Parts: sequence; C-alpha cells; structure tokens
Amino acid sequence: MTSAANNPASPPASAKLRLKKCRVGVLISGAGSNMRALVASSHQVNSPYEIACVASNKADAGGIVWAHENGITTKVINHKDFSTHEAFDAALNDYLQSQNLDLIACAGFMRIMTSQLITPWQGRMLNIHPSLLPLYKGLHTHARAIAAGDKESGCSVHWVTAALDDGPVIAQARVPILKGDTPDTLAVRVLVEEHKLYSAVLAQVSRDL
Ligand code: GAR
Repeated sequence: MTSAANNPASPPASAKLRLKKCRVGVLISGAGSNMRALVASSHQVNSPYEIACVASNKADAGGIVWAHENGITTKVINHKDFSTHEAFDAALNDYLQSQNLDLIACAGFMRIMTSQLITPWQGRMLNIHPSLLPLYKGLHTHARAIAAGDKESGCSVHWVTAALDDGPVIAQARVPILKGDTPDTLAVRVLVEEHKLYSAVLAQVSRDL
C-alpha cells in the first residue's frame, strides 16, 4: 500500500496541490478593462484561476460586449427590471450560484450591494477600488484626492463586506499625484496599476483558497 507519506512521487502533505483552477465570476458595469486584465492573466501558464463568467447590470457595457465576443460566458441582468435593490441582488446571486464559482471579483461593478448578494459570498468576493482605502470610499476618488492636495493616490483590492468599500484591504498600489494632474490623467495611471494589482491578488487568493 502506498500513501502520500511514503511515495516519493507524491508531494509532501504540507505542499498545496491545486488540481482544479479556481472558478471566478467577474461583475462589471462599464468598460471592463480590469476584467480584461484578469482574463489575460488567467490565460498565462500556471494561472491558478479561470474566468468562468462575466455578469453585468448593463447590456451596453463595453466589457460585456467584449467578453461575449471573446467566447466568455456572459450574463446581463438589468437592475432596471427590478423594483428593489434586494430583488436585483437575489436574481444576480441566483445566477452566480448556478455557475459553480469559487470566487467573485467585482471590477467596476457600480452597484451598492445588499445582503442578498454579499452574505452568500462573504469571504469569497473581492473588489477593486480606485483609492488608497480607507481614504475616499464611494465615487469621484481621483477628484477628491487632487482637491485634498494629496501627494499620492492609488488603488486597493479588498474583501467585500456589508459596508461600502470598507472590507479588509488585501493589497494596495501607490501612484504619485503629479503637478497638473486632472482626475482623468490620474485615473489613467491608476488604472495601469489596478490591472497589475488585481491580477496578482486574485492569483494569490486563488492559490490560498
Ligand atoms: C476602475 O477604476 C475601478 O477601480 C472602479 O471603476 C473603474 C472600472 O474600470 N471601481 C469603483 O469605483 C468601485 N467603487 P474598468 O471597467 O475599466 O475596469
């Protein structure tokens, strides 16, 4: 009889061996540049995750069109078809549950989520936010950082909890605010860092799962 303990071909019991890739569902509302970065990263050799599906609350979101054209499983659930936030979130959760997912990555998903969506995925749902949290939760983060005279801005990947942009931060990337920066010029430089940070964090979280 052989076992992992005495078979030299087997990894030591302490080594993590992930035979299956983590199945990640991505939630978007817009252009989906972060989602595209995650897809590109998932195609790298040895990526520990795959993008199983992309869902959007907007049918005309650039990202959902791109995902569909690139053969990714997509779903549009229009929030305007529901009379309450809770009903929309319940429908989205039903879809996500049907996809046999390990993790959810919110990537420019511009909806305030209720417990209908957050509770079932607590500890398995990440978000990327364009500020150095806990600074500037919510919208217009770059304009607020510039108006405050901050020397730097950046982005944060954090776990999603019930309070908006408030869950534990997993990792951040910093970007200097340059003289003459506008919210748009700053956003472009932060977005470059978002793409790198989100891919790296999702890979690490997938390996640790
Ligand atoms: C990104 O900057 C992301 O951090 C932000 O929306 C943008 C989406 O861009 N998310 C939030 O503000 C969430 N609070 P993308 O659609 O090109 O990835």
